[in-house]
Amino acid sequence: MSESVENARRAAAIRALEYLDTARVIGLGTGSTVEVFLKLAYDKLVGKTLVASSIDTAMIAKYIGLTLVDPVVVDRVDLYVDSADEVDPLGRMVKGGGGAMTMEKLLAFAADMRVFIVDELKVVPKVPHKKPVPVEVIPQAISIVKRKLEKAGFECHIRVPQGKRSPVITDLGGAILDVFPPRDWSIENITRFLDSLPGVIEHGIFVGLVDVLIVGKRDGEVEVVTYKGMSEKP
Ligand code: 5RP
Repeated sequence: MSESVENARRAAAIRALEYLDTARVIGLGTGSTVEVFLKLAYDKLVGKTLVASSIDTAMIAKYIGLTLVDPVVVDRVDLYVDSADEVDPLGRMVKGGGGAMTMEKLLAFAADMRVFIVDELKVVPKVPHKKPVPVEVIPQAISIVKRKLEKAGFECHIRVPQGKRSPVITDLGGAILDVFPPRDWSIENITRFLDSLPGVIEHGIFVGLVDVLIVGKRDGEVEVVTYKGMSEKP
């Protein structure tokens, strides 16, 4: 990653710090941007109830001296902070590059306020754009779901780890299909289709799950976009 993109992420993460002051229960996303945020936010996170969306984030938190609670003991979240792989002007996102989208979606869903921090390169005209949509399935469903998706015109790739020949197994015990939907499908149709497949645990299309998007620019500026009111929370 170039230094200017790193600066962009850092600028966005710094702006996100101001949302921490009044939050007591804080959900933490996953990925390199969240790692930057966590390191900057340490002082404001100490002593709060923190819940991580992945083992990766939990380990980073532990390493820098933060204490976490298990998601099982949390039934609501004041603030959720995360990043995304792609986000469009309507705040629709593709997530799951780190394979944690199921817990990420759950914590975003549980949160009163959702703040996403991205560098400007992640802003695209319309999602899904270039990144695949990760689809987490129970391992037993991988072949059936893959065939169903391919028959519907999706390009599918089983996510495989380095140094192992079988599929990636997620923190939740799932496997991941990285899929490219047919270009002419709307996001509503993609979402409806993925949601309808037995064996699918969750997928990486996030709609109506952001309240504030902080876009860090390579020149160090930030743009803050507010989506309050567009939330689809019940
Ligand atoms: C992990 C995610 C991440 O938010 C997404 O992949 C962005 O990661 P990074 O900050 O490393 O670019 O959805 O499941």
